Amino acid sequence: MSSGVINRYKDFLPVSEKTPIITLNEGDTPLIPAPYLSRFIGIDVFLKYEGLNPTGSFKDRGMTLAVSKAVEDGYKAVICASTGNTSASAAAYAVRAKIKSVVVIPEGAIALGKLAQALIHNAQVIAIKGNFDAALNIVKEITKKYPLALVNSLNPYRIEGQKTAAFEICDALGRAPTYQAIPVGNAGNITAYWKGYKEYKAKGRIKDLPRMLGFQAEGAAPIVKGYPIKGPETIATAIRIGNPASWKGAEQARDESGGLIESVSDEQILAAYKLLAEKEGVFVEPASAASVAGVIKLSKRGYFTRNPQPATRNPQLVCILTGHGLKDPDRAIQSIEKPKVVKANVEAVIREIKVARSG
Ligand code: F0G
Repeated sequence: MSSGVINRYKDFLPVSEKTPIITLNEGDTPLIPAPYLSRFIGIDVFLKYEGLNPTGSFKDRGMTLAVSKAVEDGYKAVICASTGNTSASAAAYAVRAKIKSVVVIPEGAIALGKLAQALIHNAQVIAIKGNFDAALNIVKEITKKYPLALVNSLNPYRIEGQKTAAFEICDALGRAPTYQAIPVGNAGNITAYWKGYKEYKAKGRIKDLPRMLGFQAEGAAPIVKGYPIKGPETIATAIRIGNPASWKGAEQARDESGGLIESVSDEQILAAYKLLAEKEGVFVEPASAASVAGVIKLSKRGYFTRNPQPATRNPQLVCILTGHGLKDPDRAIQSIEKPKVVKANVEAVIREIKVARSG
């Protein structure tokens, strides 16, 4: 059985017989029904759990193609700037390709799990005294002059690979969802999904296109504000980006689909992060919860009832959950009560368990 997004969606991707397929069997992630959110919002809500990719985020879909093409083109090393997930993915796929990876990250601003991944896969990790936007400018300059393949989403193969998630959603639902909510950072992913939906429609696989709903963190919301943000700030470190590379692609997705791009506060992100864990049983990293924070915000002002789709179909909303909760263990620990320590005997433990005795 063929696995990995290149094998599964070859006909839609720029690969040939000559392309070596560097894969970790990414993709094919579950589309999980969300009963609590469905009741709350009043339409059918599904969660596309991209945290179940091999390195724990959606980046693997684009990285399989970017690294395969880099190898096909003769590169011996890849480089990226990253808020963490791109670096984890680049490092893992470089190992599979037996080439070198270099990752440039903002010092002290990437989640612990992601740093651990880049390090354990032997990436050369260089932290800069600056933010993601500065790191991206540096790697862009370097790849103009040196033989390192840039594997940020400026690399069109990243977008091509990532669009396969839209195909999977349509294959699972038998149509496109009515709405799709997604966090927006460097804006490559919203661009990729929109490309995927449009291509599926052009090939006759779906009849309608979804409205694209993008969400940035309030302190890092350049597209919402309409100008680059110099010092972006948010607890959702993955989307702490002030000048997104795919700005235009995100605006195009929003405008062509009749959707929107709005911002959500850190407080709203953390509330959605906890709701997903406590009510749906799904653990994501904070940035991923921005999509759910956004739809909760929209639903409170009646957005989903004011924008009905043709009456013949039940509206469906898919929230993209971009990364696994274990990426950022510090945030989880900070958000909950610490476990209580008691003596090592049955009485001490049972005293703490607040359930009624049976019988
Ligand atoms: N969610 C997570 C978990 C991410 O890691 C990112 C981006 C996004 C959402 C936003 O996606 O940039 O395509 O709009 N992370 C990049 C990185 C920037 O370096 O890992 P986007």
